Parts: sequence; C-alpha cells; structure tokens
Amino acid sequence: MAKRLAVFDSKPYDIKMFEEVNKSYGYELVFFKEHLDKHNVILASGFDAVCIFVNAVVDKTVIDSLQSYGVKLIALRCAGFNNVDIAYAKDKITVVRVPDYSPHAIAEHTLALMLTLNRRIHRAFNRTREGNFSLNGLQGFDMYEKTVGVIGTGRIGKVVIGLMKGLGMNVLAYDVYPDEKAAETMGYTYASLDEIYAKSDIITLHCPLTKETEHLINENSIAKMKDGVMIINTGRGKLINSKHLIDGLVCCKVGFAGLDVYEEEGNYFYEDYSDTVMTDEVLARLLSFNNVIITSHQAFFTHEAFSNIAHTTFNNISDFFAGKKLANEVVYNG
Ligand code: NAI
Repeated sequence: MAKRLAVFDSKPYDIKMFEEVNKSYGYELVFFKEHLDKHNVILASGFDAVCIFVNAVVDKTVIDSLQSYGVKLIALRCAGFNNVDIAYAKDKITVVRVPDYSPHAIAEHTLALMLTLNRRIHRAFNRTREGNFSLNGLQGFDMYEKTVGVIGTGRIGKVVIGLMKGLGMNVLAYDVYPDEKAAETMGYTYASLDEIYAKSDIITLHCPLTKETEHLINENSIAKMKDGVMIINTGRGKLINSKHLIDGLVCCKVGFAGLDVYEEEGNYFYEDYSDTVMTDEVLARLLSFNNVIITSHQAFFTHEAFSNIAHTTFNNISDFFAGKKLANEVVYNG
C-alpha cells in the first residue's frame, strides 16, 4: 500500500511541484494549508510521514502526538531545523531536511536586498510611476572598496562572499568554525564579531539560529556598529532583536535593514492579510521605515531551488521507508 504523506503549509506552487515529482514515487499525498503545530497536529493522524516547512512549530506536544499516531518521519522541506525540538525527537521520530538546495538562491536575494536598499530602487520604482522624477533622498554609495561583514561562512555565506568580492568589497567574516583555506582562496579575512561590528558598512547574517545566535543583533551589538550600517538578515528572524533594531533605526544608528525573515513571521508570512488590520506593532513599525525592506521569507524561492527541494524531500522520504542510510537526517548531538 502506498505510504501516506501529510504535506503541511501547502500553497498552490507546493502542490503543483509535489504532484509533479510524486509521479516517480506514487505516495498518497494529502495537502493541508496550515503549518503544523500543537493545535492542528490531529490532522497528521493516520499518516506515515509529515512534510513541514519553516514556520511549523514541532515542540514536545507535537512530537508526542505524532508518535502516538504512528507517524514515523518528519520531512522538513527546508534547511533550517530550529523549529523542531530535535533533542526531544531523538529516539522517538526521525527527522530529515534539505540541507543544500541552492545557496545561490539565498545569496542572490541577499545581494538584491543590499542593492535595492542602497540605491533606493523600491522608492525610485514608486516615484517614477507617479510621475515624480526627482532624485532627492535617493543617493546611494559605491559598494566597491566598502567593508562587508559576513556572519556564518557555510554554503550560503560563501556564495555571498563570492558576490561581494565580485563587487570589489573587502570581506570580513566570522564563523565558529573558520574555513581558513576558503579565506585564502577567496580573499577574505576572519575577524572577531567586535571587529566586524566596528568596521563593516554592511553586516549580513548567514549562521543558523541556535541558543548562541538568538538575538545576536541586539542593542549592545548595534551600539558597536558604524553609524548608518546596513543590516541584512536572510538567516532566521530571531537572529535579530526586532525592538532593538527599531531603536537603532529611529536614532539613525542603523541606516538600512533588509529582512527576509522576522521573529514572529509565522503569524503573517506566506499569507495575504491585505484586507485586515495589522496587529503586530513591531512588524507594522518596521514596515513604516522607508529604509527597511521586508520580504516574506522568499530568498529560497527560485525555480531551481524549489525543484531541488521537492526532489531531495522525496528522496529523503523514499530512503527512509526503504530502510536506507539517511544522508540528510537531522541528528541531535547535544
Ligand atoms: P551551513 O550549515 O552551510 O552554514 C552555517 C554556518 O554557520 C556554518 O559554517 C557554521 O559553522 C556557522 N555557525 C554556526 N554557529 C555559528 C555561530 N554561533 N556564529 C557564527 N557562525 C556560526 O548553512 P547554510 O546552508 O549556509 O544556511 C545558513 C542559514 O540560512 C540556515 O541555518 C537557515 O537558517 C538560513 N536559510 C534561509 C533561507 C531563506 O529562504 N531565507 C533558506 C535557506 C537557509
């Protein structure tokens, strides 16, 4: 009998891609709009596996429920796994993810945010459509020979570094596991976080969300940064304390913020709330700045990355049910 797979957080583009890829696998797919959490976990009853995305909340309650329903596998269709209690899942349910689907997609979106903010493309777009061809307030800066601080030099961070080098920028980097060989080959330098804060014109975040990195960007780190610094976050929302970022923007210490992720994004991102009143005061305030761009966790959303995600997800699931060694299992090392 075909294995039954509950696909949460399903949007029309997910359904289209998953149904296409599933032609080679033949699973019974059931799509749910909701992102999995303790309030709707009952939907997973009767399935062999659940497939979830970035805003699912898989805590102890959800894991206990999944286990009691006989669900054997949680297949994340994303790289980050901060939303699953991996420590608690150990020995209860297997967790797989898609670690590497296109670092280029995220890195290129990072560059898009930087260039858009710097050259005020978002403002110029609105102005010219209104017949306003004035340049007042649109002056940017040459990125050439400016300094960018890259925090996290894994797959995505390294592609970002390559793009920054292409612009002729000086690159300072920080990682808990520095890759000195890459630094030498690519021409960047590892530095302490404090040095990055002190010297960088642009700071971009590419480390995972962990206990150590939660609110890495806060009032103390912002105070150490250059006046007018640009902060880009395509990592995870909680890397930044949003209220402290707002304070930094209000006093002009922070000159620009490009955010593809937001601390409380689960309440808004991926849905259309344009007909409702925004009740998240922090998000509303961030959206009110003309030097802040928020995108709805879309950095991954290219054709190539999306196709890779679907193929790897189905491979992960089929390897699991075939009892094969899992290349993309999330293993708790605590
Ligand atoms: P990766 O695992 O290849 O690289 C992460 C790097 O961060 C590693 O070099 C690691 O040593 C480093 N790191 C770990 N703890 C650190 C710390 N405390 N301080 C500094 N560096 C630290 O991961 P990859 O593929 O580059 O992805 C990075 C992050 O990007 C993911 O964890 C995920 O949260 C986010 N992401 C966002 C997407 C989006 O659509 N906006 C899509 C894919 C990933």
